[in-house]
Amino acid sequence: MKKTMIAGAMGALFALGTGSALAAAPDWGQVEATDISLFYPGVSPMEWIQKGTEHGGARALKKGETCADCHSEETPDMGQRMATGEKIEPTPIPGKAAFIPVKVQAAHDGENLYLRFSWKQPDASGGPAPVADDANPVKIAFMLEAGGKVDLADQSGCWATCHTDSRTMPDADDAKTKYVKGGSLADGKFYDLYQWRSGENKGYDGYVADKRVMEGGSALVSAEGKQDGNQWSVVFTRKLAGGEGDVSLESGQSYNFGFAIHDDKSAGRFHHVSLGYKLGIDADGDVKAAKQ
Ligand code: HEC
Repeated sequence: MKKTMIAGAMGALFALGTGSALAAAPDWGQVEATDISLFYPGVSPMEWIQKGTEHGGARALKKGETCADCHSEETPDMGQRMATGEKIEPTPIPGKAAFIPVKVQAAHDGENLYLRFSWKQPDASGGPAPVADDANPVKIAFMLEAGGKVDLADQSGCWATCHTDSRTMPDADDAKTKYVKGGSLADGKFYDLYQWRSGENKGYDGYVADKRVMEGGSALVSAEGKQDGNQWSVVFTRKLAGGEGDVSLESGQSYNFGFAIHDDKSAGRFHHVSLGYKLGIDADGDVKAAKQ
């Protein structure tokens, strides 16, 4: 009896040990990639998006259409209109890339989710962004939302966090970060936020609720970026389980998903963003994470 109990305990220990030792990224060559073009969004906060006299999509959005329904095929052209200042960009940066095509891959092993983003470094722009991050020339972030608790999260990806009064918007308060309407961790009304920064080569695990918080999450295991010539790849590893400010991920479920790259030393709103997509864990989605 005693013997089996010890064997049982050791077995459990062993299982734990191998579990974390196996937390290694999958063979990415075998994982399907989804192509998503990020685009330069100019000044297009939710307040602009929802105003019928400004944005052609405002009425349909109210009826439940998604940004991607109307725009998914034309993000490079949209980026072009805004990066050049033809539309809703009061301070265009000369030579700013209009869009960035990104390959997104996902997989999981029952314990961790692995997300890989890869893209070609766009040419440097000819001018500094009005706000710059010299220490981190490249940053990539993604957000997850658990299933429509945040208003418009099902339709609009990260846009629900983007407001006219947030820092680096024209005339906005420099201390006000992004937020969601009625945001509250306790009510599950938040986006789970992850970021990787090139200069620090470090990952951050935060959230966006009534304000943006960059740290404190307990789901992120690692974030590692690599530059190979002009090719970037960044792999995030996060536990499927999560603590406060983390969305817990379950097999068979899909989650709202969006991501953004700060390229060319940019900061604040001067980034490239995705429309809203779904990440499926063994489930339907624009990006699917299957068990490896
Ligand atoms: C019913 C279709 C439809 C939906 C849904 C829609 N849009 Fe639009 N959007 C348009 C049209 C049409 C234009 C171009 C004319 C204009 O500016 O109103 C446009 C313009 C834009 C522009 C300005 C750049 C450009 O190319 O003109 C941005 C940015 C934008 N939309 C973002 C979004 C986002 C983000 C969402 C979701 C939150 C969204 N749209 C939902 C139809 C839509």
